Amino acid sequence: MADELEDIGEEQLTADEEALLKDFPELGELGEARRKFLGQAASLGLGAFAVHLLAQEQILAEVPTDANAVFAPVAEENAVAVSMKINGAAKSLSVDSRMTLLDALREKLALTGSKKGCDHGQCGACTVIVDGRRVLSCLTLTAQCEGKDVTTIEGLAKGDTLDPMQAAFIKHDGFQCGYCTPGQICSAVALMTEAKNGELSYATSDVRQKTRSLTLSDDEIRERMSGNLCRCGAYPNIVAAIKEVHTGKAQAQNWQFVNKEDKDDATV
Ligand code: FES
Ligand code: FES
Repeated sequence: MADELEDIGEEQLTADEEALLKDFPELGELGEARRKFLGQAASLGLGAFAVHLLAQEQILAEVPTDANAVFAPVAEENAVAVSMKINGAAKSLSVDSRMTLLDALREKLALTGSKKGCDHGQCGACTVIVDGRRVLSCLTLTAQCEGKDVTTIEGLAKGDTLDPMQAAFIKHDGFQCGYCTPGQICSAVALMTEAKNGELSYATSDVRQKTRSLTLSDDEIRERMSGNLCRCGAYPNIVAAIKEVHTGKAQAQNWQFVNKEDKDDATV
């Protein structure tokens, strides 16, 4: 079959093949590859749509691989101007109206602390704080943030001083690979405000109790943090860190150095 395909010459083009060439003149520039392609398309009985895809694939395969090749920047479609505060600094952006806040942070502002885990609102890795409330930045359009105040993990520390939640995560070893951690910490910081405001959750034991400030049980913390997944399973330590900040009381660390030398090394 392969030999037959190689042997197909221009003089042997069928009416269907001629029609294909008419529809996709770019194939005419591919010489040998064109004849092979037409042979493959005819022998496989491909529909017009599949043929188009295959043609594109072959054409793209011709793109030069020279690392220095300069490609023209892709023009923004549906550009909108958005002004907002990011980590306390005023920013004005021109973005595609469909661009998510997560993509704008990562691609336009180089704030790569917020992670893209699922890009579907299911893992919480992209959580940031907008006007004091935690949001999934992968499900938030940048255009929705006009005039808003956005805080990402990069904006929590004050200079060299970590936010108390960041310090507690380190103290309690609330992470392993760290991929979910920026989202976990932003979520936990906003959770503190929700508790102070007395906002209820599915796990609140008495929903009739009107209180300005809730004391969260471990179950409440788990429930309220359930939108932030941790593939490494650092959950017990994450809960301990949040509880320490929430209560203001030191919580027992549930880990320790294997031996004294490690501890001495870590404190040098
Ligand atoms: S990346 Fe946004 S929820 Fe997973
Ligand atoms: S620390 Fe690895 S996913 Fe949470």
